[in-house]
Amino acid sequence: MAAQDSPREQWGSKLGFVLAAAGSAIGLGNIWAFPYVVGSNGGAAFIIIYLLCVAVIGLPVLLAEVLLGRTTQRNPVGTFKSLSKSKFWHSVGGMGIVAGFIILSFYAVVAGWSFGYIIEAARGVFFDFSNPSDAQIHFDSLTGNPLWIVGMLFVFMVITMSIVLSGVRKGIEKGSKIMMPILFVLLIAVMVRGITMEGSSEGLKFLFYPDWSKISGTTVLVALGQAFFTLSLGMGAMLTYGSYMSKKDNVVSSSLEIVVLDTSIALVAGVAIFSSVFAIGLDPAEGPGLIFHTLPNVFTRMAGGYIFSILFFILLFLAALTSAMSLLEVVTAYFVDELKWSRKKAVLILGSFALFLGIPSALSFNLLTDFKLFGLTFFDLTFYITFNIMLPLGGFLISIFVAWIWGLDKAVVELQKGAESLFEKGSWRVNLWRIFLKFFAPVLIFLVLLNSIGVLDMITDLF
Ligand code: PHE
Repeated sequence: MAAQDSPREQWGSKLGFVLAAAGSAIGLGNIWAFPYVVGSNGGAAFIIIYLLCVAVIGLPVLLAEVLLGRTTQRNPVGTFKSLSKSKFWHSVGGMGIVAGFIILSFYAVVAGWSFGYIIEAARGVFFDFSNPSDAQIHFDSLTGNPLWIVGMLFVFMVITMSIVLSGVRKGIEKGSKIMMPILFVLLIAVMVRGITMEGSSEGLKFLFYPDWSKISGTTVLVALGQAFFTLSLGMGAMLTYGSYMSKKDNVVSSSLEIVVLDTSIALVAGVAIFSSVFAIGLDPAEGPGLIFHTLPNVFTRMAGGYIFSILFFILLFLAALTSAMSLLEVVTAYFVDELKWSRKKAVLILGSFALFLGIPSALSFNLLTDFKLFGLTFFDLTFYITFNIMLPLGGFLISIFVAWIWGLDKAVVELQKGAESLFEKGSWRVNLWRIFLKFFAPVLIFLVLLNSIGVLDMITDLF
């Protein structure tokens, strides 16, 4: 294990770690992406496959990532450096840092909208809409304004930076401990409001009554991609958070808790959104605009809609904030550990850099709409490269590294520290993890990857 030159921070408690890591996992992926992906992919049957992906691939890879971090107590690059001499593996850590930057840059753009929408909701503008398309027109006019969109990006990034600046314990852990419980309560309030609306049962049927005819090979792969993004896997966020854990903490039970929290929040968000979308007769397959285009219409038609609209966008903002903190922490940890920068210098410079990189993404919705690289706007391109390529590739390589290079025997010994009773040698749980990480995860992720770059389409076209 690497010697530490400077004392490194650790979480104050296991709960602190679980809430911070759940904060990273629960984000726009759960509340913004999950409902629209479910809506566009047929509902319940998709959810069942998604849940299988989370259990069979998500959990084993999450365990591997958190374990790598806790074992080496270092950032993604430092982790690979201390476990392998090969430059190739060091660059896998480096790819995580780069992915962190890129994701943060476009993530903060959408997160900025959630902040802006708190203001819109508080101003009561949704109540001026006379027909459903007005919500879309309003959304387009806001995102079409370069000053608004860059302004919101700026505000969001400054808030993220100020929390990460305060450090692991005083910033991230404390912030997550305050924000996550608020988020849970708000989401449950919005869900209860949704299911008590007349006609909401159609939404529940859509979510929980599977129609298997809607499932194709691509659906399975979309479900896997979503499982990956939502658990913050494949770029070292969970590894970095794991690196602030003590050897006494239980990696197995913590990871289980993170998966359960993340999955339940996605489901509750799905129930909250679909019960109200169906109650009002809006289109569940609306796509990425689902939240911003349809929900304002839902709020104007529900009792207490004014308060619920503000609550909802606060909740979206908090969820995005705790995820963005983890993205910034990955890059910060690298510059602090490896290049010996102070935390302050790292956060200020790297945060500003990500903000700068976010500007062309923000302008993709207005001034730069026609500026396309590979047929995609800057925003879509950065989203595509990370979501479809870098995260699955990272997850694939991490499972290969732990199962085949570092070695499962060593990994299991490490994993048992703090989890003696849950993960005793030779137990079925240990064996299951070994099999999943060695075979299931790499093979399945590899398939997602081939699908992302279009290879599977090419193959199916041949037949
Ligand atoms: N898991 C976050 C979400 O669901 C996104 C994220 C991905 C955060 C990768 C960190 C790393 O919104």
